[in-house]
Amino acid sequence: MSRLTVRGFDIHKGFLTPEVQRSLITALRPVLKAAPLFSPEVPGGGQMSVRMTSAGTFGWFSDKTGYRYAETHPAGTPWPPIPSEVLAIWTAVSGCDRAPECCLFNFYGEGARMGLHQDKDEADFSYPVVSISLGDDGLLRLGGTSRKDKTESIWLNSGDVVVMGGEARLAYHGVDRIRFKSSRLLPKGGRVNLTLRVVT
Ligand code: SIN
Ligand code: MN
Repeated sequence: MSRLTVRGFDIHKGFLTPEVQRSLITALRPVLKAAPLFSPEVPGGGQMSVRMTSAGTFGWFSDKTGYRYAETHPAGTPWPPIPSEVLAIWTAVSGCDRAPECCLFNFYGEGARMGLHQDKDEADFSYPVVSISLGDDGLLRLGGTSRKDKTESIWLNSGDVVVMGGEARLAYHGVDRIRFKSSRLLPKGGRVNLTLRVVT
């Protein structure tokens, strides 16, 4: 395990042991069963290449009319609870006493990517966003609080945990590409990224 800070992003490399990574995947299976992955539409038209779902009181959602948090899955059902194994990571790294209300589950299959964006649909930016990477490697691009700021990139591997707080809370970030099948955590390949957020 090692820890580095890049532009205020607090990066814990190798924070989760392979055993913990496997137990997280097991704990997430019922989440996917209760709240299947879907491909959100984006306001400009088209669909995201990343498939998503959520756990918690709120799930992140996007359609033609914009980005927001919703209390139900598109199927109309409530989001399942955030697994305790996931909450334990928030407790270990977030440095805050409030529990997250949303665990966004992003699945990157072969060729999926996520454009540069800020996480700003939450009410209070004094709470960090905690990101957990599982499965295939992903190239995270990190910028500043303006879209025009210079960016740098870092590979995230399975078991890495990133805390976006303080100056990095509203920093632009995105995932340019994944190395499909670089990890054997998910037998069929792909990258899972969980982000924990206080929403209200
Ligand atoms: C996100 O910004 O929601 C995901 C970041 C990542 O996949 O590492
Ligand atoms: Mn984000």
